[in-house]
Amino acid sequence: MEKSAFLYALCGSQRKASTNRRLLEALRDNAPAGVLIEICELIGELPIFNADREGENTPAVVEEFAAKIRASDGIIIACPEYAQGLPGGLKNALDWLVSRDEAPFKPAMIAHASHRGDFALAQLAEVLKTMSFDLVGEAFLRISLLGRSEDAQASVLADSVENGLLVSALVKFCDAIHCDGR
Ligand SMILES: Cc1cc2nc3c(=O)[nH]c(=O)nc-3n(C[C@H](O)[C@H](O)[C@H](O)COP(=O)(O)O)c2cc1C
Repeated sequence: MEKSAFLYALCGSQRKASTNRRLLEALRDNAPAGVLIEICELIGELPIFNADREGENTPAVVEEFAAKIRASDGIIIACPEYAQGLPGGLKNALDWLVSRDEAPFKPAMIAHASHRGDFALAQLAEVLKTMSFDLVGEAFLRISLLGRSEDAQASVLADSVENGLLVSALVKFCDAIHCDGR
C-alpha cells in the first residue's frame, strides 16, 4: 500500500464512552502512513430526513456532511445494534445520501466493537449495497469491547495493534480502494 487515502469514519453511537467510537479512534490513531482518518462529528447535528428538504432546500449541515463523503476515498462505519436494527441516527444520516451522487461506488468498510449485533451488521450491509456503496467485505473488522472497562478496552485495542489485526483490516481496505483504480 503506497498511495495516500482520506477515510471518513461514521460512528452510529452518540455516547461519549462509545466502544464503537473507541474502535474508530484506534483505527485513526494507528493508521499507516499516508492514511488519514477523520471521525464524523455531524451525525447528531443532522435534521430528520425529509425529501421536501432536498435539492435547493438541503440544510447546510447536510451539504457539509455530503461534501465530506464526496471528498473521501472511502468510509468506515462502526455502529451498535439497537433493538435488533440500525441506530436511527446513523440510518438518518445515510437516508440523506440516498438520492444524491456521493454514495455510488464509494468504498465502505464496516468495523464493529461487539461480539453481538449480527442483525445490525446484516442490515447495515444491505443498506450500503442498496445505496450502491462498494462494500469491501474482506476489510470487516470485529473487536469486542462490549462490557469491558476503559482500561480493558485500551488493552484489547493495544493487543489488536500489536498482533496486526487492526492495521491489516485497514490495509486490506486501502489496497481494495487503490487496486481497483478508484
Ligand atoms: C436502545 C438500545 C438498544 C439495544 N439493543 C440491542 C440489541 O438489540 N442487540 C444487542 O446485541 N445489543 C443491543 N444493545 C446494546 C448495544 O448494542 C451495545 O451496548 C453496544 O456495544 C453499544 O455500542 P457503543 O458502546 O458504541 O455505544 C442496545 C443498546 C441500547 C442503548
